[in-house]
Amino acid sequence: MKTYDIALIGGDGTGPEVAAEGIKVANAAANKFGFKINWHPYDFGGERYLKTGEVLPDSAVGELRKFKAIFLGAVGHPQVKPGILEKGILLRLRFELEQYINLRPVKLYRAQDCPLKDKGPEHVDFTVVRENNEGLYTGAGGFLFKGTPHEVALQESVNTRRGVERCLKYAFELAKKQRGGKPWKGLKPEDVSAGKTTQLTLCGKTNVLTYAFDLWERAFHELGANYPTVKRDYAHVDATCMWFVKNPEWFDVIVTDNMFGDIITDIAAMIQGGLGVAAGGNINPEGTSMFEPMGGSAPKYTGQNVINPIAAINAAGMMLDFLGESQAAAAIEAAVVKIINTKIQSLAAGKMGYGTREVGDLVAAAV
Ligand code: IPM
Ligand code: MN
Repeated sequence: MKTYDIALIGGDGTGPEVAAEGIKVANAAANKFGFKINWHPYDFGGERYLKTGEVLPDSAVGELRKFKAIFLGAVGHPQVKPGILEKGILLRLRFELEQYINLRPVKLYRAQDCPLKDKGPEHVDFTVVRENNEGLYTGAGGFLFKGTPHEVALQESVNTRRGVERCLKYAFELAKKQRGGKPWKGLKPEDVSAGKTTQLTLCGKTNVLTYAFDLWERAFHELGANYPTVKRDYAHVDATCMWFVKNPEWFDVIVTDNMFGDIITDIAAMIQGGLGVAAGGNINPEGTSMFEPMGGSAPKYTGQNVINPIAAINAAGMMLDFLGESQAAAAIEAAVVKIINTKIQSLAAGKMGYGTREVGDLVAAAV
C-alpha cells in the first residue's frame, strides 16, 4: 500500500486539537482511497520553549527535511513574547526549507458565512500565491544610533530575480490549472476571443515601490509571454483590498510579494467565512512543504472542544492534493462543503452547534 510519512507539529493552544481533526479526516480519506499516512509527531512550540529554552533544536530542520510534508496546528503562546515562536519555528522553517510559495485558496462555501452584502460562493472563489521567502520578511536592515534621538530603523524589502521568477512561474502554472482547466467565467468576451481561459493578477505598488515592483512587473510580463491562455492583470495592493470587499468576483489567481500577501490573505480569510475555514500551504515544490490552518493558536479556547477544525481539515486536504492524492483531496473538500451546508450553524468558535471533535467526526463520516 502506498504510504506517506508526514511530520506533525501540533504546536500551541488549540493547534493540537484542530490538527487532530485534520488527521482524523485525512486518515478517513486514506482508508477510502487506499493509502496510508504515518504521522510523526514533534513537540515544537511554546511549552517546549518555556521548559527547555529551545525553539527548534538544530537537528530539527535536517530531520524535517526528510519528509515531503509537515502538518502544523498553530504556533503562538500567551507566555512567550510575540515573535519568538513565529520567527523561530514558522518563519525559520519557511526559509530554511525554501518554502517559497504561500498558497491560499479563498473559497466561500455558504453565503451566510460571508460578511459582504449580496455575495455568495459564486463571487468568492480565487487563489492567492504569496511569495514566502523574500520581501520585507528576510530580516535585512538594521538600526543606526539605536536608542538615541537620531535613531534610524531600516527594514529592507529583498526581491531577487530568481525569487520573483520562481514565484511567478508557480502562479502562471497554477493559473493554467485553476478550476481543473475549465475557463474562468469572469473573463470578458474580448479576452475569450483572444484565447484566454484564466486571469493572473499581479498585486503590487508600482506607483510608489518603483524598484521592487518594477522588477516584479518586468518579470511578470516576460514570463507571461509563455502563457498565452493566461490573461495578465495588475492591481495596486490598496485597490486589491478595496475590491476584495466590493467585487471579489473580479479575481481568479493573484500573485504578490510576502508582506502584501500577508495582509490581503487576512482580508481574504474574512470574506471566505473567517479563520475557521482558511487554510494555507507553505510550498517547496521540490522539497518539504508545510500545511496549516490560518487561525493561530487561539489560546483562550484551548481544551474546550469549541474551536472550528475545518481550516485544519482543509489544510489536510491541501496536503493530500500536494502529495498527489487529488481524489482524496476533492473528497475532503466535498465533505466540508456538505457538512457546512447541512449541519454547521456558524463557523465561529463556540457557535457551530457541534464540538470540535464532532465536526471532525461529521466530515470524516461524509468522506
Ligand atoms: C501568516 C502569519 C505569519 C506571517 C506570522 C505568524 C509570522 O501571519 O502566516 O500569515 O506573517 O506570515
Ligand atoms: Mn498573516
